[in-house]
Amino acid sequence: MTKTLKGKALFPIGAAVSVARLKDINFSGAFKNNYNQLSAEYEMKMTHIWTSPAGYSFTNPDYLVNYAIQNSMKIHGHALLWYSSFPDWFKTAAYDSLNFENNVKTYIQTVVGRFKGKIGSWDVANEIFADNGSLRTDATVYKTFKDPVAFYGRCFRYARDTDPVVKLFYNDYDMVLNSAKRNAVRKLVERFRSEGYPIDGIGDQFHTTSWTSKQTINTGLTDLASLGLLIHISELDIRVNQNKSDSYIFTEAEKQKQSDMYKAIVEMYETLPQVQKFAITTWGITDKYTWLTGWWHPKEYPLLFDSNYSKKKAYDGFLSGLK
Ligand code: XIL
Repeated sequence: MTKTLKGKALFPIGAAVSVARLKDINFSGAFKNNYNQLSAEYEMKMTHIWTSPAGYSFTNPDYLVNYAIQNSMKIHGHALLWYSSFPDWFKTAAYDSLNFENNVKTYIQTVVGRFKGKIGSWDVANEIFADNGSLRTDATVYKTFKDPVAFYGRCFRYARDTDPVVKLFYNDYDMVLNSAKRNAVRKLVERFRSEGYPIDGIGDQFHTTSWTSKQTINTGLTDLASLGLLIHISELDIRVNQNKSDSYIFTEAEKQKQSDMYKAIVEMYETLPQVQKFAITTWGITDKYTWLTGWWHPKEYPLLFDSNYSKKKAYDGFLSGLK
């Protein structure tokens, strides 16, 4: 029998899913057979969990966690702090820095504490840097704290104090491609180290394309890994419709190009030191459901299974890139 991704890989293979998708037996079957780690596409984000100051909604996160445990999968928590996912009630409250931090601390303790021993890793902060490497000035945290990076450091500390063995990640996009952002993250890690804030890993989302320069990826990935932390390719998908064309056709040649890119990325990841390979996670499993049809273009085919749950060339590319 031909090998599956999870059967061949020496590190976890994850995918982003949701409760609704897992209730679809076709989706669930393809997921279980090929992947061994779960990320929540949105149901573990702050706005979905934190419904009011003392109100937490855990129905969906609980479902995801139980599903993963029943199917012997690891769980990666995504994401505790993301500027785009602070609940409206929280933003409206316009807390001063003390109240802001006390509330967030309670949130981190509550969420990390609930899944202690079950969720092995968390993205503590997601996307705090703008593309030029400065902090995102539109973010609530930025507006509230004189020293936002120290605030984030304390948040990593709150997570670590709640679960001493949980792996803590900083997650962002394009650190591998964008040296300004990569340098900003390097500075953040260096500061965390010198001031004693815990951090175990870096997640680079890898929402990438079949026309991205492989050389640039290779250089950036090597440089990012030189920090010595765990490296998670955390939201991999490879879009193909370069011109956002309504008449785009996903031809055999285009399928092959995408497959080659999957293979190249996995091969580059495999060149990292074994101990730094945390996981590769794809942002979904099937072209039937992908956030890119909204964010990029309705004609997109970024994942490993087609809309009928057949393995694409992309799957074979990924598989052959594994050691
Ligand atoms: C996206 C999800 O795919 C959507 O379903 C949701 O509505 C918005 O967020 N970077 C991230 C992810 O870190 O959390 C985002 O996921 C995609 C970009």
